[in-house]
Amino acid sequence: MSRADRTIGRTHVGRGAVRAFEYRGPIETERLVLRAVEPSDFDVVFAMRSDPEVVRYLYWGVQTAEEARAALEQRISFRAIRGEGDVLAVLAVLKATGEVTADLILRCLSQEHSVGEIGFIVLPEHQGRGYATEAARAMLAVAFDGVGFHRVEGHLDARNAASARVLEKLGMRREAHLVENEWVKDEWQSELVYAMLDREWPATRR
Ligand SMILES: CC(C)(COP(=O)(O)OP(=O)(O)OC[C@H]1O[C@@H](n2cnc3c(N)ncnc32)[C@H](O)[C@@H]1OP(=O)(O)O)[C@@H](O)C(=O)NCCC(=O)NCCS
Repeated sequence: MSRADRTIGRTHVGRGAVRAFEYRGPIETERLVLRAVEPSDFDVVFAMRSDPEVVRYLYWGVQTAEEARAALEQRISFRAIRGEGDVLAVLAVLKATGEVTADLILRCLSQEHSVGEIGFIVLPEHQGRGYATEAARAMLAVAFDGVGFHRVEGHLDARNAASARVLEKLGMRREAHLVENEWVKDEWQSELVYAMLDREWPATRR
């Protein structure tokens, strides 16, 4: 059977099936609530995206208010994963205070191969308290139990030690160190790739 034979319409019927997943309400963790992004989140999204420390290892530089507003609009619309390129975006809010602490995404990198990617940003004043790890673990639950991805990856600048540590704490495996594979912000940069498979997830979830 060819690869094409195993694909019917937009849904892969082989091992790598991806289920449609729609945001239907907040997701709770011990200390956080992960909720959809709303228009009133502009200030916090702008604060994150205009901070040089936050964007240091990201693909983009410090954003203007206009760029942050465009990013906010996108994130508001990122509420479902139905196929390749779709993104689910959430903000993590501290249960104790109602403050936004983090911005997270889950993207469908490949529908055919059933691969998702997670990404996260924590506001500087909330870093170092385990929020990225706690919120990203909830996103892995969405990825494996909700969407049904076979594999979830994390891609990062090789200098981003805090991000690598988060992915390690989640139980993801460092699979690649790609040396100077990207030209970003006027320099060659190296990339790390971490991954976890669906069959590995049950042993690492908490
Ligand atoms: C990466 C990031 C999300 C981590 O958020 P966080 O809430 O502080 O993460 P956690 O508290 O869950 O875990 C951070 C871990 O990294 C460690 N760490 C922090 N800075 C580090 C550094 N410079 N070198 C090595 N480890 C570091 C912490 O000690 C902690 O590990 P530990 O629990 O074993 O002590 C946050 O630093 C951030 O938003 N950075 C800017 C945006 C970014 O780069 N996002 C990732 C894109 S791939």
